[in-house]
Amino acid sequence: MLILVTGGTGTLGRVAVPSLVKEGHAVRVLTRRPATERDVRGDLETGEGIPGALEGVDVIVHLASAAHKWNTGRVDVDGTRRMAEAAEKAGVGHLLYVSIVGVDRVPSRYFRFKAAAEQVVMDGGVPWSVLRATPFPEFTETMLGMFGRLGPVAVPARTPWQTVGTGDVADRIDMMVGRGPGHAIEEIGGPDVRPFGEYAAAWLRARDARRPILPLWLPGKVGRTQREGHLVTESGATGRRTWGDYLEEKHARPARW
Ligand SMILES: NC(=O)c1ccc[n+]([C@@H]2O[C@H](COP(=O)([O-])OP(=O)(O)OC[C@H]3O[C@@H](n4cnc5c(N)ncnc54)[C@H](OP(=O)(O)O)[C@@H]3O)[C@@H](O)[C@H]2O)c1
Repeated sequence: MLILVTGGTGTLGRVAVPSLVKEGHAVRVLTRRPATERDVRGDLETGEGIPGALEGVDVIVHLASAAHKWNTGRVDVDGTRRMAEAAEKAGVGHLLYVSIVGVDRVPSRYFRFKAAAEQVVMDGGVPWSVLRATPFPEFTETMLGMFGRLGPVAVPARTPWQTVGTGDVADRIDMMVGRGPGHAIEEIGGPDVRPFGEYAAAWLRARDARRPILPLWLPGKVGRTQREGHLVTESGATGRRTWGDYLEEKHARPARW
């Protein structure tokens, strides 16, 4: 099968692309800055390069996103629509969209765009699947770095959190590609459901950093729905990679909860 991966240069894409290749698929990567033989130039925001990138494609694994940017709607929603319409014309057989656990329940700006993009995929003319994942450890660590840049680590300590390894998500993508369009939304999460404050404490210990954790209270409906656990999947933990595995690989020290 020929698979076009959008966002193949991103955190998940860098793991998902080699995994699809290992499964025996031919893989093309849509990127604004092509750098390898596999890459084709394309921009979801402008539509540049999309029809050409779709020539002969059987499956699209759609990972591209302008997360938390000024142009998120233009890339994630309008760009997904552009891609879906071009894919229908090109006769693509399966559009697999990766989304986030909680986009239907936590009304943050980014999640609203992701939910709208899911709807575009589901309403479009290409047979589809949606995979919602919980946060990746790489993103969680970036957040912790931002929360702690002034010294103490101020985090929404009580919010239930659940990372999932990108390798586990890539394995699920391989499986869903092999199975074909399910016309259903699936979810994947990792094995550790813990308050975010415990994730933060384990991160500090793994880095041997002695800094206080300050509980942060996120106001409004976004904070409340997050505290109620809507960033965690109820589908059962199917990922195996733990936060400790990630910290051990990154910082050479395992997480101690
Ligand atoms: N991060 C998380 O914790 C998490 C959790 C669950 C689900 N997800 C979802 O998983 C997907 C992948 O996330 P990620 O963290 O791997 O993303 P990422 O590292 O932020 O990478 C974003 C990707 O989007 C591409 N992109 C951005 N704007 C584009 C445009 N205008 N045209 C074409 N491509 C564009 C970039 O490609 P170029 O720069 O090469 O053009 C890049 O490969 C996203 O849909 C995200 O919502 C993420």
